[in-house]
Amino acid sequence: MKSPNMKNLSGPTIPIDDGKLFQQSVTAMTQAHSENPVLLIRGLHKHFRSGSEDIPVLEDFNLTLKAGESVALMGPSGSGKSTLLNILSGLESWSSGSIVLFGETMTPSREADWTALRRTAIATVFQEANLMPALTLRENLQLRASLAGRSDPDVDGWLADLGLNGLAQRYPDQVSGGQRQRAALAMAFVMEPGLVLADEPTGSLDRRTADQVADALFRFQKRNHCPLILATHDADLGARCDRTVTPGNQG
Ligand SMILES: Nc1ncnc2c1ncn2[C@@H]1O[C@H](COP(=O)(O)OP(=O)(O)OP(=O)(O)O)[C@@H](O)[C@H]1O
Ligand SMILES: [Mg+2]
Repeated sequence: MKSPNMKNLSGPTIPIDDGKLFQQSVTAMTQAHSENPVLLIRGLHKHFRSGSEDIPVLEDFNLTLKAGESVALMGPSGSGKSTLLNILSGLESWSSGSIVLFGETMTPSREADWTALRRTAIATVFQEANLMPALTLRENLQLRASLAGRSDPDVDGWLADLGLNGLAQRYPDQVSGGQRQRAALAMAFVMEPGLVLADEPTGSLDRRTADQVADALFRFQKRNHCPLILATHDADLGARCDRTVTPGNQG
């Protein structure tokens, strides 16, 4: 099947006022008793092209995520876990199908809105920690909170929660890979997001640190009633989520 032209999917762009509109719907939807799904994916198809080769990755993928729910994306390497997370953070387009996030129908072309969502509502914890190299860990968290519109963030509290209290003054290249990964998680928490997308957040950690990080993640998720989508190969980590989905198959 030929993928439809992205332009046909895009429709008119609804201006989102610096993320404020999203912030309102995020707040409403993550309320403990909200019945509306935070995320609704219907009939999602994603094909990559490499020269003349058509690479189908997601075929008629469906997912409904309610407030406070956690979903583990599990499945073999290449099954589309990272691709799906990239799509849901606006970093990758899709071929056809619909995505409704916080009540807004999203299209790949709504770049300003995706940017607003990433700044205020969707926290991504990907393997390359999203830290500014010229800022200390504390300054990185302060900046992240301020971009998300948080006026009184507990930066040192989040750093301590992830065992990084002694490293607040260090620059990202002055800490280990695992410590950077924990700092990336603290960056997600400090923005008080409406959705967390995590791609193998404990992938480069030893078992004990991985367990501590997972504890911090699920503590945050439960306390804030924050929906979470987590890609992992770790069966123990996956089992801590409410349910498991394999992207290459049916969601
Ligand atoms: N830019 C690209 N161009 C072509 N194919 C791609 C591109 N990015 C990813 N793919 C292919 O899409 C498929 C899904 O990749 P993806 O990274 O989503 O898998 P994954 O489930 O996250 O795997 P892993 O567990 O190894 O991280 C793979 O077959 C991959 O080779
Ligand atoms: Mg991956």
